[in-house]
Amino acid sequence: MRLKDKVAIITGSAAGIGEAAAEIFVREGARVLLADRNGEGVAAVAERLGPNASALAADVSASADVKRMIETAVERFGRLDILANNAGYGIPGSVVDTDEDAWDALMAVNLKGVFLCSKYAIPVMAAQGGGTIVNTASNVATMGIFDRAAYCASKGGVAALTKAMALDHADQNIRVNCVAPGVTWSTYFDKMVATHPDPDAFKNKLKARSPIHRWAEPVEIANAILWLASDEASFATGSMLTVDGGMSS
Ligand code: NAI
Repeated sequence: MRLKDKVAIITGSAAGIGEAAAEIFVREGARVLLADRNGEGVAAVAERLGPNASALAADVSASADVKRMIETAVERFGRLDILANNAGYGIPGSVVDTDEDAWDALMAVNLKGVFLCSKYAIPVMAAQGGGTIVNTASNVATMGIFDRAAYCASKGGVAALTKAMALDHADQNIRVNCVAPGVTWSTYFDKMVATHPDPDAFKNKLKARSPIHRWAEPVEIANAILWLASDEASFATGSMLTVDGGMSS
């Protein structure tokens, strides 16, 4: 019960890494508000996880939704100890190939979403005497990959914002860290592979790039989020925990 009596919000928790994190958080004793722009999906996950899970349809790029999300956690559970900023997605393309609108839309979710959720969660945490934020960045925040320019830039921004927030809010007893996953088999990844002209070749290429010859299961990333969110990580702030099977080594 490493999160006993804690209240958490996990964004992007209708699927993939966020869903796995919600399951682990509930198992470890937290009461969790699962927020996702896929309202039906997130309601189904919360239903499966039982009475300590509650769902909300919310888009992290819309400040009205984000304010409602923070208020809802406090209304339903009385406080807010943990914010896991996990919602995000990727698009293919070099800088030349990426439409301006697609760039803006991705930044609005992957980077501005982290800004907005943190902006409205931090005052609640500070008023309570502390809290913790765990952002889902990516190993591409520091190493870059081909054909994902906007995504790499957004995750580099998340990594930098993590450090900035850690400094600004250390005196309020708020720890801010990020996890940097490598290739993880999630809904997003499933779709990306399915639309690739040669899915099997693509999968083999990914495996070949991994020193341990496989991709992560969402739970392997969720376990890292759990550790950073728990009191076991009490001396960790401003950290990036890379969990990528050695790909960026
Ligand atoms: P996923 O697609 O399985 O789940 C992402 C969830 O976020 C979905 O339920 C989706 O509806 C939700 N979401 C998307 N935009 C949203 C918005 N504006 N507001 C609220 N919810 C929104 O993807 P996955 O893989 O679980 O991704 C989770 C995080 O992990 C993302 O930030 C992603 O960039 C990051 N990541 C994923 C990796 C991978 O290989 N799957 C590798 C490194 C990082």
